Amino acid sequence: VCVRAATIDDLWAMQRCNLMCLPENYQMKYYLYHALSWPSLLQVADVDGAVVGYVLAKLDEESTTEIKGHITSLSVLRTHRKLGLAATLMRAAHRALTECYGARDVSLHVRVSNEAAIHLYRDVLAYEEVGVEEKYYADGENAYNMRLTFDYGG
Ligand code: ACO
Repeated sequence: VCVRAATIDDLWAMQRCNLMCLPENYQMKYYLYHALSWPSLLQVADVDGAVVGYVLAKLDEESTTEIKGHITSLSVLRTHRKLGLAATLMRAAHRALTECYGARDVSLHVRVSNEAAIHLYRDVLAYEEVGVEEKYYADGENAYNMRLTFDYGG
């Protein structure tokens, strides 16, 4: 498995992976918008040319004072879970956010029932819960708003 920056050619496979893993789906133009705006913030897990996981990240366009990252979507195909791929994808996105953009922090939303993802964000990657967004999802479920502030070593 190799984790690498996505190219435009990977976007359909990323969308397919998203459709298989999550109810929050996006039109191709939204993937393209990410890829054209922040190319280093789309990363894929590639097994012999097949995309088995992705992270889709962006800069927060509403923040005018500070550079902030946001994780739009992360998923790994069921066949390739618990191999550390999601953690590797997230760390690759974090690296691109700091090295390419000098981002101060990164945020994300996660379903309050999503124990696997919460474990990954909180316990493996050291994100903190900074709030709850009531009925954030289309089916009425709440989201935790989570954030990681980057440490630039002083
Ligand atoms: N239950 C408990 N812990 C779990 C689970 C689980 N089902 N799955 C993974 N973990 C733990 C791992 O044990 C590991 O922790 P450890 O180092 O303490 O052992 C940690 O989470 C990271 O594991 P990875 O192997 O890197 O995670 P994986 O590649 O399996 O992907 C993911 C995790 C992305 C949550 C996957 O289960 C998935 O695609 N789920 C469906 C889609 C989803 O929920 N995406 C996140 C939505 S939020 C958002 O997109 C911003």
